[in-house]
Amino acid sequence: MRKKYIMAPGPTEVPAEVLVEAAKPVIHHRTPQYRKILTEVVDGMKYVLGTENNVFVIGASGTGAMEMSVANTVNAGDKVIVASIGVFGDRWEAIAKVYGANVVKIAAEWGTAVKPAELKKALDENPDAVAVFTTLNETSTGVYNDIEAFGKLTVNHKAILVVDGISGIGAQPFYMDKWNVDIIAVGSQKGLMIPPGLAYIAASKKAWAVIENCKSPKFYFDMKKYEKAATKEKMPDTPFTSAVSLVCQQAAALKLIKEEGIEKVWERHEKLSKAVREGIKALGLELFAKENPAVVLCSVVVPEGIDGKALMKKIRDEYGISMAGGQGKMEGKLLRIGTLGYTDRFDAVMGVAAAEMALKDMGAKIEVGKGVKRTMEVLMEEKY
Ligand SMILES: Cc1ncc(COP(=O)(O)O)c(C=O)c1O
Repeated sequence: MRKKYIMAPGPTEVPAEVLVEAAKPVIHHRTPQYRKILTEVVDGMKYVLGTENNVFVIGASGTGAMEMSVANTVNAGDKVIVASIGVFGDRWEAIAKVYGANVVKIAAEWGTAVKPAELKKALDENPDAVAVFTTLNETSTGVYNDIEAFGKLTVNHKAILVVDGISGIGAQPFYMDKWNVDIIAVGSQKGLMIPPGLAYIAASKKAWAVIENCKSPKFYFDMKKYEKAATKEKMPDTPFTSAVSLVCQQAAALKLIKEEGIEKVWERHEKLSKAVREGIKALGLELFAKENPAVVLCSVVVPEGIDGKALMKKIRDEYGISMAGGQGKMEGKLLRIGTLGYTDRFDAVMGVAAAEMALKDMGAKIEVGKGVKRTMEVLMEEKY
């Protein structure tokens, strides 16, 4: 028997009190009972996102919320700026092109973030750009962007700021309103601690002015339909059948987040990720993030001579832990250890222990126990 764990940067483990919600009988979505639960989710998401804007609940994975952002703001021929630092930043470019956008791309070297000065230059050179698309936490590299600084630039520009918060939300500081973020896209299977299947989107007043005039074709992803359903009566509603069980799970997970307090949730992620990073460094391994290291995962460069895909497979099949490997041009070259969502101190210790044991099995020149020791020391220093 092998006990199974997920230590990927999504999907993540789901707390037992959230899992059981899906086993309950499905209630009808056009009832006051259900709409009360949906209200709790919308209010909880506003709290997590730091916003007074309405939050829409969509039956989709996170990419659905990304496509919704583009489909509702970009007309064919519009100029947009994509500030990318990895695979998911590049996804913005791919989606924008499907909708006929003229893309100006800022592509930071992988392992680094987009400098606010680079974005400023792009905005100055492109006063006609209608939107900036970027990523809060780039899961493929384990680096986050300074969204607060980006918001200070776009607030005085015609362009709206659209952020993929799919892996960062519920893990790292984020204030939609205070930071002048115009659209945020989120997925359910990461920091929000439920299974995959729900996406969230919220838009500012500045974004709504663009949405109202956007002519790109859409039906299921038409934000105006969601707005109409959300506001037509006193309690929020959805334009199509809700993913009822997932929404009930989300209400339970948001209750846990509120009980802990969102700032405490962010602090926990910060400390757990630091403990993993320090443990990995103590082993003499290289971190892929050269700046702004993610709090949702630690991206480790697989040592020379070791097959990264085989390493991940060994950790999964022999040690029972699903981690993530490299994506895109880093395929087979990275090990990404998640500390996202429902994670605590011994997850950090376990993640480093599994990496050490599997690397040693594969012939890496490391001293077993050195990383775990450092991880434990950091966890004892960095109480939360
Ligand atoms: C930053 C980021 N953006 C987008 C996505 C895509 O989300 P989904 O697979 O839920 O569509 C992911 C998922 O890993 C992600 O981490």
